[in-house]
Amino acid sequence: MGIKIAKTFNVKSDVLVCAMFSENLKSVPKYIPTFAKGFLNERISGKEFDAKKGEIISTYLLNKKLPTRLAIVGLGKKEKFNGKKSRDIGGILGKFCKQSKLVNISIIVPGALNQYMEEFVEGGKMAQYSFEQFKTKKDKDNGKYNAKEVTLVLEKADKKIAEKITRAGIISDSVNYVRDLVNLPSNEEDSQFIVDEAKKIAKAEKYKLTVFEKKDLEKMGWGGILAVNWATPDKAKALVMEYQGAKNKNEKPIAIVGKGVIFDSGGYNIKPGQYLDNMHQDMAGAACVLGVFKVLKKLNIKKNVVGICVLGENMIDGKAYRPTDIIKTLSGLTVEITNTDAEGRVMLADGITYADKFKPESLLTIATLTGAASVALGNRYSAIMGNDLKLRKDVYRAGKETDDLVWPLPIHPDFKKKIDSKIADIRNGDTGTAHLAGSQKGGAFLERFVGKNKWCHIDMGGTAFSTADHKDYEVDGATGAGTRLLIKFLENC
Ligand code: BES
Ligand code: MN
Ligand code: ZN
Repeated sequence: MGIKIAKTFNVKSDVLVCAMFSENLKSVPKYIPTFAKGFLNERISGKEFDAKKGEIISTYLLNKKLPTRLAIVGLGKKEKFNGKKSRDIGGILGKFCKQSKLVNISIIVPGALNQYMEEFVEGGKMAQYSFEQFKTKKDKDNGKYNAKEVTLVLEKADKKIAEKITRAGIISDSVNYVRDLVNLPSNEEDSQFIVDEAKKIAKAEKYKLTVFEKKDLEKMGWGGILAVNWATPDKAKALVMEYQGAKNKNEKPIAIVGKGVIFDSGGYNIKPGQYLDNMHQDMAGAACVLGVFKVLKKLNIKKNVVGICVLGENMIDGKAYRPTDIIKTLSGLTVEITNTDAEGRVMLADGITYADKFKPESLLTIATLTGAASVALGNRYSAIMGNDLKLRKDVYRAGKETDDLVWPLPIHPDFKKKIDSKIADIRNGDTGTAHLAGSQKGGAFLERFVGKNKWCHIDMGGTAFSTADHKDYEVDGATGAGTRLLIKFLENC
């Protein structure tokens, strides 16, 4: 999609979009062209249009010298306008244009929107995402109704707009890339696929990439990843990507460890029927790590960053790990497996231990770790936990700025004890009261491995994949949650 800024709209556009605030209902602003005013004023006086956030009215213009259609979109109250609303409205318009097959689009942008153009474009591009590479009937593909040419007509000129549009493009492309990775079914995307993607990114951006294959993991003692993968040994892998963006090469990096479980069947604690649905999403944490690395250099982020993906699959066969097995993790700590479905934490434990080698400034874990996160917070907030208030606040703020929201959960000291094992150092699941405070217990397990590092854990169990009640700029399937959050966190911290 090409976006250009022009003095006037393109008469060949499929649609001319005029955006307006509800304060302007009494007297239609000057930037709205005269030919639009009759239609608009009639709708206003007939109380058919209130310029509420995302409200759209449209008509055909029936004049060869004008765009085919006119659409007026409400921005809500000017005094209450903000980045989130701008992103949402971008999303609503993105969907409207796609559904109405409007691909050449002119938009008249009121001055007050300039400040929020990044969010607006981001929302539009994310809303037009669709996952349809496996549809063979090309004529049914709605991807062809994605915006091709967008002409922005600014009420007030602004030198910073071009940069905002570029940033929006980079960030939304990354979100949509993460969505593709998460949406890909497990038969099309295994650990090797993710490694290959990391290789492409590392090559394009000149990052250092280290890949550990099963034999490397064995030599080094990554017993957590290996045990989860006893049924699928070839899928046990880990990757480590390094980006140097700080002026000082020796500045301590931010380490991000992502869960990359290709498919989570639950293992011998097999998931009951409907809980197997969409478990190909269980590599969303790893996908986020790749999404972030895709843009670190492009956005010139001034941090050193280490990304670690723990990769594998949680399946069943004669070699699969069992409840009651005791395994030894990379840290040396032994884990009694009480539940094979609590596999993510077992794999992340090794990733956390490896991250410690980099003496990170702070350590983030990002994972679809618990279904309990969605019970607690639904699909609007990822849960965060950790041992450092400042770090949690920074992550929280990044969430607020990007609408990739997080909400803190505690880890009660009693739950930290709940994972003590009688026969090993710890166990990977609580017994008896396992259904209570599941996210906190996942966090408590990870905390055993973080040592003295400042650590924040992001549980996307409720946010990575959405089948209902989407945000305005989301569609069915993977959301790309965590991507904008981490990018903004790295930019701010
Ligand atoms: N990958 C799941 C968590 C999950 C569930 C993510 C639904 C997204 C949607 C994780 O491995 C898991 O199975 N967690 C268990 C933990 C329990 C066995 C202690 C859970 O949440 O039920
Ligand atoms: Mn599981
Ligand atoms: Zn899982």
